[in-house]
Amino acid sequence: SPDQVRELVETARTLAQEAGELVREGRRRHVGVAATKSSAQDVVTAMDLASEALLRRRLAELRPDDAILGEEEAFRPGTSGITWVVDPIDGTVNYLYGISAYAVSVAAVVGPDPTSAPDPATWTAVAGCVFAPEDGRTFTAGLGLGASLDGVRLHANEPRPLIDSLVGTGFGYVATRRRVQGRIVAELLPRVRDIRRVGSAALDLCAVAAGTLDLYYERGLQPWDLAAGALIAQEAGAQVTGLRGGPAQESMTVAGPAGRIEELRSLLESLDADSDG
Ligand code: IPD
Repeated sequence: SPDQVRELVETARTLAQEAGELVREGRRRHVGVAATKSSAQDVVTAMDLASEALLRRRLAELRPDDAILGEEEAFRPGTSGITWVVDPIDGTVNYLYGISAYAVSVAAVVGPDPTSAPDPATWTAVAGCVFAPEDGRTFTAGLGLGASLDGVRLHANEPRPLIDSLVGTGFGYVATRRRVQGRIVAELLPRVRDIRRVGSAALDLCAVAAGTLDLYYERGLQPWDLAAGALIAQEAGAQVTGLRGGPAQESMTVAGPAGRIEELRSLLESLDADSDG
């Protein structure tokens, strides 16, 4: 029911904000760490773990029957049918360098099989929050209730031609895949207004929701990268899909307004953007 969804959204918001304040404070206490790489990396690892531990501890208090899927620790099964999908820091390289585009992402999803880790290709996301602690922006959405930024309703952009579209993307960490991703960027660049690589998939999807990007695509997203952001984009009126008629998933996620996403999708298909060779 709408009230249950609202309650899940409030829980997502509370948890994302609490974890976000923790990681922001953690970075402040280590000002300058990006200068020495090994200790900077340690801070990132420590804060990722601390943030996920906080999220898990608070969920165990507030929603003891729910399952949890996170980036840093093993899947914790539940009995309620609801799984929380959490990314303790999305945009860790930005975090490492003191660039403000990083976020905590928290979503509640309902999967076909509540006893195993849910999959973006088959789950239904019902509530989500992406909190960017450096500027305090809070994106939220509830299934059927719309999406908002700091309480103001969001609407994705009207479709415009690809050549007039600002397109976001991201790159995975594996070199062979990056070679393909570089080739796709080279093909796209002459066909679009410009390309942005913000460095946080969760914030890219929120940017489509807010209209600060027209379109976004990325290969290789993990469930926690997209759970909350995809719902926020959809509730703002955007479509979020995969390629070749499939849903958004690891092999490809594409987001943007109906009426323009198709052009990007068929271009990505013709370029074999979902292949590794
Ligand atoms: C990464 C960011 C990045 C995207 C990568 C993700 P992480 O997440 O979302 O923008 O391009 O594919 O892995 O590692 O910072 O949580």
